[in-house]
Amino acid sequence: MGAPGSRSRLETTGFADAVHGRASVRRYGPDPVPRDDVEAMVGIAVRAANAGNAQTWRFVAVEDEGLRSAMRGAVEQALDDMAAWPEAEGLEKELKAYRAYATFFAQAPVVMAVLGGVYHSFADDLHERRGLPREERDRRRQRPDLQSLGGAIQLLCTAAHAMGYGACWMTAPVLAAPAIERLLGIDPRWRLVAVVPIGRPLVPPRPSQRLPVSDVLEFR
Ligand SMILES: Cc1cc2nc3c(=O)[nH]c(=O)nc-3n(C[C@H](O)[C@H](O)[C@H](O)COP(=O)(O)O)c2cc1C
Repeated sequence: MGAPGSRSRLETTGFADAVHGRASVRRYGPDPVPRDDVEAMVGIAVRAANAGNAQTWRFVAVEDEGLRSAMRGAVEQALDDMAAWPEAEGLEKELKAYRAYATFFAQAPVVMAVLGGVYHSFADDLHERRGLPREERDRRRQRPDLQSLGGAIQLLCTAAHAMGYGACWMTAPVLAAPAIERLLGIDPRWRLVAVVPIGRPLVPPRPSQRLPVSDVLEFR
């Protein structure tokens, strides 16, 4: 075993295996995901670091096939509407590919709707009160709400993989957020942030390439 923090030490843990083995899975078997397993995955997700420990996340596990189809229908409708915009002219091929990218979630036995709540960052609020120009406020904006959600979603997907399931973190369906929130009866204080379909992978997950660490890490 190597020294604390060394790569070899990390690789001996189940954690490293779960992280390295995870990949987005987009085709699922029909077996239901037991509720105990869904609860265990969410139990891991909520261990994420999060701004102010405000835990402004909620998870709705959509098992009902009719609801899942209706969610897909909402995304298709939103895409149909977009396709009719004059600005979408000539983008038929892209829209077709995007439709597949945004709708496959419905065939998973459980679809997690990940919701984000309002989080007031002290600094963001003060910038607004100060009346800083929009561009300046955007440059300084920390988005702790979304960053916290990101941590939880990554853990959710990694936990699903560690438990033998496949999952895919998806934001494309959010283009139909208002309709999906209505379908699921979401309290208006919460917003759909992502959708994560989960099921047994039809084919083993294939981790995709990453840039070498030397390309993405600098020391100063
Ligand atoms: C914020 C975010 C949004 C994503 N949205 C979608 C999506 O809408 N549809 C989809 O098929 N994949 C989506 N993905 C999955 C990415 O395509 C995938 O993570 C990336 O290609 C790397 O592959 P890997 O997850 O297998 O490592 C999303 C991932 C992230 C982090």
